[in-house]
Amino acid sequence: MANFIKLFFLFFFFQQLIFSNGQNNVVKGGYWFRDSGLSLNNIDSTLFTHLFCAFANLNPQSNQLVISPEDQDSFRQFTSIVMRKNPSVKTLLSIGGGRANRTAYGIMARTTNSRKSFIDSSIKLARQLGFHGLDLDWEYPESTIDMTNLGILLDDFRAAINTEARNSGKASLFLTSAVSNTPRVNGLNYPVQSVARNLDWLNVMSYDFYGPNWSPSQTNSHAQLFDPVSHVSGSDGTASWIQAGVSAQKLVLGIPFYGYAWQLVNANNHGLRAPANGKSNAGSIDDGSMTYNQIKNYIVQNRATTVYNATIVGDYCYSGNTWISYDDTQSVRNKVTYVKGRKLRGYFAWHVAADQNWLLSKTASQTWGASPQAVK
Ligand SMILES: *[C@@H]1O[C@H](CO)[C@@H](O)[C@H](O)[C@H]1NC(C)=O
Ligand SMILES: *[C@@H]1O[C@H](CO)[C@@H](O)[C@H](O)[C@H]1NC(C)=O
Repeated sequence: MANFIKLFFLFFFFQQLIFSNGQNNVVKGGYWFRDSGLSLNNIDSTLFTHLFCAFANLNPQSNQLVISPEDQDSFRQFTSIVMRKNPSVKTLLSIGGGRANRTAYGIMARTTNSRKSFIDSSIKLARQLGFHGLDLDWEYPESTIDMTNLGILLDDFRAAINTEARNSGKASLFLTSAVSNTPRVNGLNYPVQSVARNLDWLNVMSYDFYGPNWSPSQTNSHAQLFDPVSHVSGSDGTASWIQAGVSAQKLVLGIPFYGYAWQLVNANNHGLRAPANGKSNAGSIDDGSMTYNQIKNYIVQNRATTVYNATIVGDYCYSGNTWISYDDTQSVRNKVTYVKGRKLRGYFAWHVAADQNWLLSKTASQTWGASPQAVK
């Protein structure tokens, strides 16, 4: 009997060892959503180790995870389709996102029962649809109590995932989360210890620092890697997560495949932090954003002047009264070099359909180099 128990624990010890090695692999991630303009069949999954399918939602009545009727077909096919071109790619079902109702997540996270409904339905759905993991994008908890409850939610989630893996004999589902650039958002602190303990890694949203809707009066680099003056940057953000207690190995840097277009006050004053007057109509009506693909076309069509700033690691371009902050290949290359040099886990792109002929995805993947095969 004693030997049997020893063997039993030895088995779990080695299983843990194998899976934790597997999880230390690099993350070359990318998000996809259905109406992004790129069909599932056209995703070049060979350029990624992990693909995130966005977004499943919380039903506030049942506190269960649900997929909208329009998304059903593509979410069901997601994993099998992307694995055709790259059998070792891992897929995660992403939950929530910037447009989800954050209040409903706060209510769900309050009680043991509602958390359990959410967690159990999420695990069930992920397994039914063949995903390898779940990615919680609650943007953002709205109170100190929400933050505390997020910590409890992640404890419960991890426990349920471990139990499910033991019972099913399958590899544990990944559990990740998209988080703000720093561990403090809207004046509230993330439950850093729970985050560090329970998540496989964090997708750090190292972008949207500035935008014509929320910083209308001057242009700026929305996803700069460095800023020695303001310290609002991707490197400062990831450093603050490390400082707060999350290991570098759990941090994945977000790289935007999009930019923001401002309207310059004076077409002759077109530097960084030049006076601006909100969004340019070159960008989207709602927030002035443009995909990388649109920006590259805009540059050609308008003979825009492009500037790469190596101090901050960020690109911008201008033509007439339009000024656009974005990441081109040099920025992407330098960001990935930074991520590798600092021994972060990897990078992710929001979002894969915004690329132009896979140029940024290829640049990022090749800069990192060939990735080790995921442990099966
Ligand atoms: C968000 O969710 C809360 C709680 O379920 C609900 O009271 C509120 O009406 C929702 N807001 C929107 C815009 O749907
Ligand atoms: C590059 O960025 C630095 C730091 O913000 C700034 O001082 C410098 O003027 C920028 N150069 C250009 C050409 O925009």
